[in-house]
Amino acid sequence: MTIYEAVGGMETFRRLVGAFYAGVAEDPILRPMYPADLDPPKRHLTLFLAQFFGGPQTYNAERGHPRLRARHLPFAIDQQARDAWVRRMAAALDTIDLPPAARAEFLRYFEDAASFLINR
Ligand code: HEM
Repeated sequence: MTIYEAVGGMETFRRLVGAFYAGVAEDPILRPMYPADLDPPKRHLTLFLAQFFGGPQTYNAERGHPRLRARHLPFAIDQQARDAWVRRMAAALDTIDLPPAARAEFLRYFEDAASFLINR
């Protein structure tokens, strides 16, 4: 069984990303970096995470190879922005009901990926 299946499939990723962007919407560091309409970023992150954790490969079909570091270069991601992102995602993780092992694995992945994206 994939992690995607174990945590409840697409609906779980939708809820996680919905909670994350609700936090981004009120974040003074992160909000200005995103476009006015948060729906497209929401869709991209949902599909990316679902794909990464073993779900359907819809992200690649729609967006091509993720190339996350390259895609994030236009955004000034310093330690402070990285920490703000991780804080919002950790808070979002708390709003969905995940087995503790899955929560820990998600959080470690997000911390590492966010550190990798620091570019300033
Ligand atoms: C470190 C702090 C981060 C900041 C400040 C940040 C910021 C952004 C911004 C501003 C966008 C553009 C939104 C849009 O116009 O669609 C974006 C896109 C995206 N981000 Fe991040 N991001 C961060 C970390 C991450 C992490 C850790 C992941 C994955 C685990 C991630 C995954 C994505 C994806 C999948 C997209 C959409 C790419 C696309 O298909 O265009 N980001 N991010």
